[in-house]
Amino acid sequence: MQIRNISISVEVYSSLAALPAEDRMLVRQAQQASDAAYAPYSRFQVGAAVLLDNGEVVAAGNQENAAYPSGLCAERTALFYAGARHPHAAVKAIAIAAQRCGQPAPRPPYPCGACRQVMLECEKRGHLPVRVIMYGEVLTEVAHSVADLLPLSFDLDC
Ligand code: THU
Repeated sequence: MQIRNISISVEVYSSLAALPAEDRMLVRQAQQASDAAYAPYSRFQVGAAVLLDNGEVVAAGNQENAAYPSGLCAERTALFYAGARHPHAAVKAIAIAAQRCGQPAPRPPYPCGACRQVMLECEKRGHLPVRVIMYGEVLTEVAHSVADLLPLSFDLDC
């Protein structure tokens, strides 16, 4: 038996001002999308802003439903919307911001497993590493690719 170690690196920022300008712009759009999220059940409003290689930004908030599993996370709402509107554009980056009961989340809102799976397919489809900016008021983390966030991922080519 052998052990295979898997490690990832993320950039860590302690203020919005320290982020590169393009990341800051995307975070602002994610924050605005979180303001417009429809999350009356969890009161956890998430916003995601997707930057495409054609320069467009597509942003969306999570969409909940009284029949709980029928809702959708912000990341997938934004990515599927981007795919529908710009089917030939590659995703360059996604920023995620969240607020709980109207208060900005202090720590990075890490995307759920299902969103990582969808983000990974966008990355593969676009043949470009997708920068993932997970914004928290106190701490922001940036991953250089979705593959870093989903090691040992499902692949039909196994
Ligand atoms: N949520 C997201 O929008 N993104 C994630 O990556 C995880 C969770 C949403 C789903 C639900 O509307 C609320 O946050 C609470 O789980």
